[in-house]
Amino acid sequence: MKFFIDTANLEEITEAKIWGCLAGVTTNPSLYAKTGGVLSDFESHMQKIAELCEGLPVSAETTATTIDGMVADGRRLAALAPNIVVKLPVCEAGLAACRILADEGIRVNMTLVFSATQALLAANAGARYISPFLGRCDDIALDGTSQLADVITCIKNCDWPDRNPDGEVEIIAASVRTANHVVQAALLGADIATVPMKVLKKCLHHPLTDAGIAAFEADWERVANA
Ligand code: E4P
Repeated sequence: MKFFIDTANLEEITEAKIWGCLAGVTTNPSLYAKTGGVLSDFESHMQKIAELCEGLPVSAETTATTIDGMVADGRRLAALAPNIVVKLPVCEAGLAACRILADEGIRVNMTLVFSATQALLAANAGARYISPFLGRCDDIALDGTSQLADVITCIKNCDWPDRNPDGEVEIIAASVRTANHVVQAALLGADIATVPMKVLKKCLHHPLTDAGIAAFEADWERVANA
C-alpha cells in the first residue's frame, strides 16, 4: 500500500517528501482553508504543490455543483500541471463530469465515497482513483472498515481497461484518523492510504525505537570517550 499525504500545507508536504516514502498528495477545500489561503490564490497554491511533488499525483478538488461547473473547474485544474488529479464528489453531476473529463484524458479522484455501489458507479464513470472514507463513518458509529472492504472487493473483482486514462482504478483509503486505520486499510488491500501528517508521525514513532536509538547513542558516546 502506498502513502499519500492528506494536506494542502506546503511545509508538511515538504517534510513528508524528505522521508522518501511519499507517493502523492490529496487536498480538499477544508484542507486549503486550513492553510489560511484565499480564493484568488487557490490555483497557484495547487500549482506549487504539483511542482513540489513533480511526477506524483496531486488531487485538487472542485467546489462546483453543476456538470458544466465541474467540467470547467476540472479542465482548469488539470491544465495547471500534468500531475494534477481532479477531485469530484460522487453525485449525479460528479459522475457526469467524471465521464467527460476521463474521455479527455484527465484523471479523476472520486471522493466522499461511503458505499460499494457509489464506488462501482464511479469506476464505471471513469474515475482513476476512488476514495472511500473511514473516519467519517466511524464518527457516526458506522463501520468504515467493512465499507472499505466491500469497496475493495467490488472494484478488484473487475478489470477497468477502457474506463479511464490509465486503464486501472486505485482505491485510496481516506478520512484516515488513526494509525490503526492505516493498518486496516493495508490489511484489506487498499492501494493507497491518504494520511494527515499527525497520523503519519504516529505511524512512525514507537517508544522502543526511541529508547533503542537513545541507548545506541549513549553506548557509542562511551566508546568514543574510552
Ligand atoms: C481525502 O481525500 C479526504 O478529503 C480526506 O481524507 C477527508 O478527511 P476527514 O474526514 O478527516 O476530513
